[in-house]
Amino acid sequence: MKNILCIGAGYVGGPTMAMIAKKCPDYTITVVDINEDRIQKWQSDSLPIYEPGLKPIVDDTLNKNLFFSTDVAGNITKADIIFVSVNTPTKTFGKGAGKAADLQYWEKTARQILLHSKTNKIVVEKSTLPVRTAEAMERILNSHDNGIHFEVLSNPEFLAEGTAIRDLTDPDRVLIGGHSTESGQKAVNELVKIYAHWVQPEKILTTNLWSSELSKLVANAFLSQRISSINTISALCEATEADVEEVSKAIGTDSRIGSKFLNASVGFGGSCFQKDILNMVYLCEYYGLNEVATYWEQVVSINNYQKQRFVTRMIKSMFNTVVDKKIAVLGFAFKADTGDTRESPAIDICKQLLEERASLIISDPKAIRNAKIDLELYLDQIEFEPDPYAAAADAHALAVLTEWEEYKSLDYDRIFDVMIKPAFIFDGRNILDHQRLFDIGFNVYAIGKPELSHL
Ligand code: UDX
Ligand code: ADP
Repeated sequence: MKNILCIGAGYVGGPTMAMIAKKCPDYTITVVDINEDRIQKWQSDSLPIYEPGLKPIVDDTLNKNLFFSTDVAGNITKADIIFVSVNTPTKTFGKGAGKAADLQYWEKTARQILLHSKTNKIVVEKSTLPVRTAEAMERILNSHDNGIHFEVLSNPEFLAEGTAIRDLTDPDRVLIGGHSTESGQKAVNELVKIYAHWVQPEKILTTNLWSSELSKLVANAFLSQRISSINTISALCEATEADVEEVSKAIGTDSRIGSKFLNASVGFGGSCFQKDILNMVYLCEYYGLNEVATYWEQVVSINNYQKQRFVTRMIKSMFNTVVDKKIAVLGFAFKADTGDTRESPAIDICKQLLEERASLIISDPKAIRNAKIDLELYLDQIEFEPDPYAAAADAHALAVLTEWEEYKSLDYDRIFDVMIKPAFIFDGRNILDHQRLFDIGFNVYAIGKPELSHL
């Protein structure tokens, strides 16, 4: 059991396999993808995703025990263990549209595995999937009387983008779900053996298949619920004299609550949170648990409300109109340290500002390429400018939408000088020194804080 294959060379498959390759020199790992451009980039000097710390690991292992290829069929035949990390977006059509997971890539992969396998294999679900997908997968794989046995495991990935290497190096836990049958447990042990190369045994949790699949959805639901909860409080703080950062600190020091994921923001983004909650909502509806579905769906509704509230506050403070006003958007990625913009709050916020006929200039250190794709229908109303100083020139307002470290230390005196007055700053991530900006002359609006206005 030494040949590992990963199908899908994206944000999950790429970094995870690079880490396994680094920590397990006794295994050979091949990552395949149908996207030739992606595979070619993994083998080049500019990787297809930006992730701090990833490049040195790929450099160390590439073409030693880590290989990238577009030959899906040939590599399936050779593999002992196959990780599947293809994309499972929210369905945009048919039954369950807008909520259920679109399993077309997943099912195509299962059929390819079946077609090209000549020996027994362990198939590992790495992508986040609806609960009981492993069962469907097993049915497809074991539907042929070809004498080959497929054992399906669930091993959800908990890494967050921007901190993937840290999360993979020192995970809070590794979760492996499998059947309690003899062959199920044997397969679980094969996977435990891989992670045991660098993860302490007490951090490797084994469960049944369904618990493992569900735990991934629940982890993301709980994390995003914390953000939506604090974001509702930010609205209350703006209406009162309270400051959400002080409230977060005050409640976060309660060890029962804990301090993480209590940063109020313009809303959460990323490829997982919304998708996974909606997926769970769909599951609850399927089982007739309508109250439970409604409860969790509110987390997404509040997230949409938070984005809309941010735009409403911008318009209201800028004398109820942004028509033809130039607004410099600082940050478009869904969080810092990634170029990924999937479900980024910046997308909805920019679209709402464009509907209000503002003219936008968008800056981001890593995400401009993706921003252009996300906003392709509006390109005549937008400019893109990697340099934040150039973006601020002649702008009426700055809107900080991603918490990039470099935005904290910009020369805001210089920026103030080149902006139209009165100059506004909307800090959607609460990363700036608001009092200092106010002293420079800006009108400052932060999330969940009283406004600092000269007007
Ligand atoms: C998330 C989960 O954290 C990870 O375990 C899972 O495997 C995939 O989904 P990711 O989406 O990469 O990871 O990033 P995360 O750090 O969770 O941030 C998600 C969004 O929430 C970002 O838009 C971030 O800016 C926002 N966020 C996070 C807040 O608004 N406030 C916070 O306090 C924390
Ligand atoms: P994630 O964030 O979950 O890693 P990505 O979209 O970044 O998701 O990556 C998923 C990858 O899976 C994409 O590069 C896509 O081309 C690839 N993929 C989808 N279907 C298949 C398939 N049948 N065979 C090989 N690769 C696939």
